[in-house]
Amino acid sequence: MPSQYDVIIIGAGAAGLMCAATAGYRGRRVLVLDHANKAGKKILMSGGGRCNFTNLNSTPANFLSDNPHFCISALKRYTPQHFLDLVERHGIEHEEKAAGQLFCRDSSKEIVDLLLTECEWAGAEIRLETEIRAVAAEDDGYHLRTSAGDYHCQALVVACGGLSIPTMGATGLGYELARQFGLEVLPTRAGLVPFTLHPELKTQLAPLAGISCPVAAECKGERFVEPMLVTHRGLSGPSMLQISSFWHPGDTLAVDLMPGRDVLSELKQWRQEKPQASLAQCLAQVLPKRFAQAFSELQAWQGPLQAYSNSDLEQVAKTLSQWTIKPAGTEGYRTAEVTLGGVDTRQLSSKTMAVLDRPTLFFIGEVVDVTGHLGGHNFQWAWASGVAAGSVA
Ligand code: FDA
Repeated sequence: MPSQYDVIIIGAGAAGLMCAATAGYRGRRVLVLDHANKAGKKILMSGGGRCNFTNLNSTPANFLSDNPHFCISALKRYTPQHFLDLVERHGIEHEEKAAGQLFCRDSSKEIVDLLLTECEWAGAEIRLETEIRAVAAEDDGYHLRTSAGDYHCQALVVACGGLSIPTMGATGLGYELARQFGLEVLPTRAGLVPFTLHPELKTQLAPLAGISCPVAAECKGERFVEPMLVTHRGLSGPSMLQISSFWHPGDTLAVDLMPGRDVLSELKQWRQEKPQASLAQCLAQVLPKRFAQAFSELQAWQGPLQAYSNSDLEQVAKTLSQWTIKPAGTEGYRTAEVTLGGVDTRQLSSKTMAVLDRPTLFFIGEVVDVTGHLGGHNFQWAWASGVAAGSVA
């Protein structure tokens, strides 16, 4: 005889735990199953160990999806302020780093503890290190065959995330289950991920590894003004991670190294005021010194500024404000923060996350084709979609 539950949630991550607590508080008998040995592993590693748990400025415009209106309802009903209130009720100290981005002051573990405490108070059970072997629909719900025995539930919530960071337990189970129940899964790819470079540019930029500078990165009409970090492997930092979600193989990036400045006027002014200085010396006033030096070498900008004609300076200004790079690729799921694409939302209710013609089967969190920008939006989607499903499952 399988163990009976009202709701079984596959995935003890951000969305699954939030959903479990919400359903548990409604008096539902809830079980969360996960194959990992710890709940909320991605939460633990998020935000550099301090979990950027929400973004106060989160709006539907911060999300990518083939069906952009889908996320509106859930995000409206469970807002960043709702999650912040919960964080404060648990006495977790937090700080706003960049505009709207809220991080734990101490450790991500506090967010996992918050979710586990809420699950405990709500009476939701969590069973880890459990492999899901088969899921079958029955007249009155679902039968799950697992490494820990058989279970039966009335409502099944799939919250097993995307493909990013397989070493943290990511698998394609959510997509497999969606297909098993006849749902469309849109092509997936790595998002919020560093770029790799072709060998020549990689070698040229190697001396800059570890240097970060504020830039505006642009691709296909999307633009992010945030720091860029040169690494031993390629380009990273918030601007590169953000733009990676819009980049496709073969696309070119335009990087403005002096965003918001009238570069040509400044170059002309420098030439007038310091004719003997090199471009690298002048650029070091507005860019990190090592970057200014190496970038000037890369462009073969030599000699004193007085040797540059107006049209030379125009060319220099163009290079600085529109440095074009053709990345070789991205680091892929190995280091990506998120997976773009996934379960096509046109088959789900935007209010409940349930499958439209199967109201007892739910898909929430990253497995769904809703992906946030960097900065706490992805967790906000996990909380909001988890609450939406947990309120009815
Ligand atoms: P999540 O991945 O959290 O949980 C899925 C769960 O399902 C896991 O516990 C997994 O073990 C389980 N599972 C998978 N396959 C299974 C199987 N076959 N059987 C059983 N269980 C299975 N976002 C943000 O807003 N702010 C931030 O600071 C960060 N930082 C960050 C850093 C890094 C390094 C990464 C990789 C990601 C982030 N993110 C982030 C993104 C954020 O972590 C992500 O969007 C959410 O965790 C998604 O929540 P889910 O619950 O959908 O999946």
